Amino acid sequence: MDSFELNKAAGAVLMVLLLTMGVGIVSDVIFETKVPEKPGYEIEVAEAASGEAAPAAVEAVPLPQLLAAASVADGEKASKKCAACHSFEKGGPNKVGPDLWGIVGRAPGAHEGFAYSAAMKAYGETHPVWTIEELDAFIENPRGHMPGTAMGFAGLKRAEERASMLVYLNSLSDNPAPLPQ
Ligand code: HEC
Repeated sequence: MDSFELNKAAGAVLMVLLLTMGVGIVSDVIFETKVPEKPGYEIEVAEAASGEAAPAAVEAVPLPQLLAAASVADGEKASKKCAACHSFEKGGPNKVGPDLWGIVGRAPGAHEGFAYSAAMKAYGETHPVWTIEELDAFIENPRGHMPGTAMGFAGLKRAEERASMLVYLNSLSDNPAPLPQ
């Protein structure tokens, strides 16, 4: 091998080295490796396992007990969420929804001058009056409790808030019925 051949060989080796380095740099740029902030896998632990009360346990407080602890004033505050669609005073106007004075003990879908959905009318045929329990279920999840209802409201999910809503609704009467014991 003369010096010319040697130079060529050395050049080839250098070339290969440069190329591999180059590829390494380029692939680093293309495939940017992300180092996780916390090493290891995240493991989601169900809330119940942490010792806190699960939502189901909260719901388990019986309704009469929630009602006994609820306040009409809190319910009146909560009724702001309904006020866009409902009036609450005696002889109040129907809005997007019917007036709710005297709703406890009233027949579902029975307020004069309001055009109820077919779903509400059908409900009224199997449920002669709105009981506190029925109202509780309806207000929690209107469309879940009454598929097809025209009441476009997601529902009050907190049992305590519903309970105060219910004692407020129950108070909207000339002679309010006793709360369920
Ligand atoms: C976006 C408007 C809207 C909101 C907000 C709304 N409602 Fe209604 N509500 C309606 C409509 C419309 C109906 C009639 C439903 C039907 O015919 O299916 C109705 C019906 C009802 C009924 C049955 C009335 C009857 O005469 O049988 C009750 C009870 C009721 N709503 C309670 C509430 C309460 C309590 C809230 C607030 C927590 C609320 N609604 C929020 C629109 C609304």
